[in-house]
Amino acid sequence: MQNPQLEEKVNSLLKQMTLVEKVGQLHQTHRTSCPHEKVTEMIKKGQVGSVLLWGIPTGGKDDEPENDINAMQKIAVEESRLGIPILFGLDVIHGLRTVFPVPLGMAATWSRKLAEATASMAAAESASVGVRWTFTPMLDISRDPRWGRIAESFGEDTYLCAELAKDAVRGYQGEELGGEDKILACAKHFAGYGAAEGGRDHTISSIPERMLNDIYLPPFEAAVKAGAGSVMSAFNDIDGVPCTVNRKLLIDILREKWGFDGFVVTDWQCVDNLHLQGIAKDRNDAAKMAITSGIDMDMVDGCFSDSLTSLVESGEVPVEVVDNAVKNILKIKFQLGLFEQPYADFGRAKKTILCGKHKQIALEAAEQSIVLLRNEDSLLPLKPEIKKIAVAGPMVECRKELNGCWDLIGRAEDAATILECIKETAPEGTEIVRIANGFEDTLLSNGKLDAVVLVVGEHPKRSGEGKDITSLKLPSGQEELVRKVHAAGIPVVMVVIAGRQLELSWAAQNIPAILYAWHPGTMGGQAIANILFGKTNPSGKTPVTFPRHTGQVPIYYNCRRNIAGKPAIMQPYLEIPEQGPLFPFGYGLSYTTFDYGNLKISPAVLKQNGEVEITAEITNSGDYDGEEIVQLYVKDCAASVNRPVKELKGFDRVFLKSGETKTVSFILKPEDLAFTRLDMTWGTEPGEHEIWIGPNSSTGLKSVVRLT
Ligand code: NOJ
Repeated sequence: MQNPQLEEKVNSLLKQMTLVEKVGQLHQTHRTSCPHEKVTEMIKKGQVGSVLLWGIPTGGKDDEPENDINAMQKIAVEESRLGIPILFGLDVIHGLRTVFPVPLGMAATWSRKLAEATASMAAAESASVGVRWTFTPMLDISRDPRWGRIAESFGEDTYLCAELAKDAVRGYQGEELGGEDKILACAKHFAGYGAAEGGRDHTISSIPERMLNDIYLPPFEAAVKAGAGSVMSAFNDIDGVPCTVNRKLLIDILREKWGFDGFVVTDWQCVDNLHLQGIAKDRNDAAKMAITSGIDMDMVDGCFSDSLTSLVESGEVPVEVVDNAVKNILKIKFQLGLFEQPYADFGRAKKTILCGKHKQIALEAAEQSIVLLRNEDSLLPLKPEIKKIAVAGPMVECRKELNGCWDLIGRAEDAATILECIKETAPEGTEIVRIANGFEDTLLSNGKLDAVVLVVGEHPKRSGEGKDITSLKLPSGQEELVRKVHAAGIPVVMVVIAGRQLELSWAAQNIPAILYAWHPGTMGGQAIANILFGKTNPSGKTPVTFPRHTGQVPIYYNCRRNIAGKPAIMQPYLEIPEQGPLFPFGYGLSYTTFDYGNLKISPAVLKQNGEVEITAEITNSGDYDGEEIVQLYVKDCAASVNRPVKELKGFDRVFLKSGETKTVSFILKPEDLAFTRLDMTWGTEPGEHEIWIGPNSSTGLKSVVRLT
């Protein structure tokens, strides 16, 4: 703690606390699984530090009284002996009432600006209703789309995830904690949860140490450096050690190496889980192991609150360990300004929630997240001569379902359906015909149709926590539907709503236009309609690699080389004629075209402590204004270990008017080329590094930098 005044406040409060009150601060209870009377009784006795909510008064749960949060807080502040406020936490994963695209969709925007703006707006809505803690950003690198929680991630790439992590943390917390419209962020799940074996949730991860350091940990380091005030330990074990008791992660790396100064909360019931994972013999043992391994707060299982007092009294856990955890939590409560303003301000909530500014940013985020995967013969945008359009598919009349997983507070009435938005946005004189679900056979009997917009994809029940799948194909019956609609011989625009990359091999060969919209949130319908009719030029790019077949998974662009010197993912399978991905990482089309030229590196030699500037000229050579996401990749040609065939090291979103040229510039420093070397130290090795500036991970202008 580097702030003496803050330290003084924390210490003086700590001195007044009984052991029971100290342990109380380390206990997070759950609003709905613990009876209300019990919760309020415990709050009165100072035995609760945080309450985890699954709904708030202005949100989905109408049976909760309007002043629920404030009533609980009043008991803490006015009726408990020391008046320490409760920290209310909720999974505000991609917005509160104004729902933004799922994090995987946000990653497809490649927009630092939107990552910050959406987080900031989610924070403002949450803070106004008294929720001062969100359990996000989720920074689990996800290379396996069978895993349902890939939707909550920023995708497969370490650099993209780390960049967006910083912006998200800044958005939620501000430059420093304390603003009335800011909340505490939580970098989760520390660590390696995305490496879930077989894409199975709540499971085990096997991650070699070098891969942990180089691929899985950097986004967490970035979040910590950006000031994230809390970190959540992950459910999984790595190589047999559950993250809840992983001292190497929680103490050596997080606290000592990175200087993390906030508090660590477990994931749901993770202390209790320790005996199920075969590590602890009972709840007491589990509590002792977790608190001495660097956990500060126990999420909802009550192990700390049941056991820590007696463990300290019997001398099994030193009181200093408990004191440290309490200090970490109290410090954040002070920094958040909870002692000065502990209450929700529902007056402010009414002005903030779903306000025009938030909806506008939700629209921009949804528009920029949508990836145009295919556009044969420039079918899109739909031209004015297209006068009669059929709209079909199981998702055209969805509302709340467009929000995807972790939509706890959004309401159906907040969102317009895709069908409504298409009708609103289509040029005057265009006839829109809704083809009822199950009646797609009637397509041809509708007179002359000029195009069909077919919306398919995943219901949120097939995406998110515990929603793992063995096949990445569209949900049952939908591929047949796509084929049937295609067979009608009318040009088809397929819109896919999903929380993960799906297997689209047949569609990618047969359906002329494909828009990948992820779960786009409250304004998703409008974003899709704007893109269909050319009011917005699509600009999203894939934050994950799309496989041709589920059997190729895991398939990710920054793999290592195989014995033929090729990317390991290019090794062919017998049953698939083409190798490699269907769509590479970083891929996405536009209604215009961008030409890349004039790559320059200056100087061509990168000295230790030096830097090089890498520039290229990007020209909008098509007829539409548009935004291009320009990407910088590197490859270490020869090193002490086999290194990735490409690694993203920079990106920029550039707006170009039709015909315009701009120079895009990236700075590369030696630390950008660092990795875990053969001797397990972190650093660089001299030698040649190939460099690309390009529109995606599979192509680009190429040159070489020599690191001395
Ligand atoms: C379990 C999930 O793994 C975690 O991400 C979430 O924040 C907690 N539940 C709280 O709801």
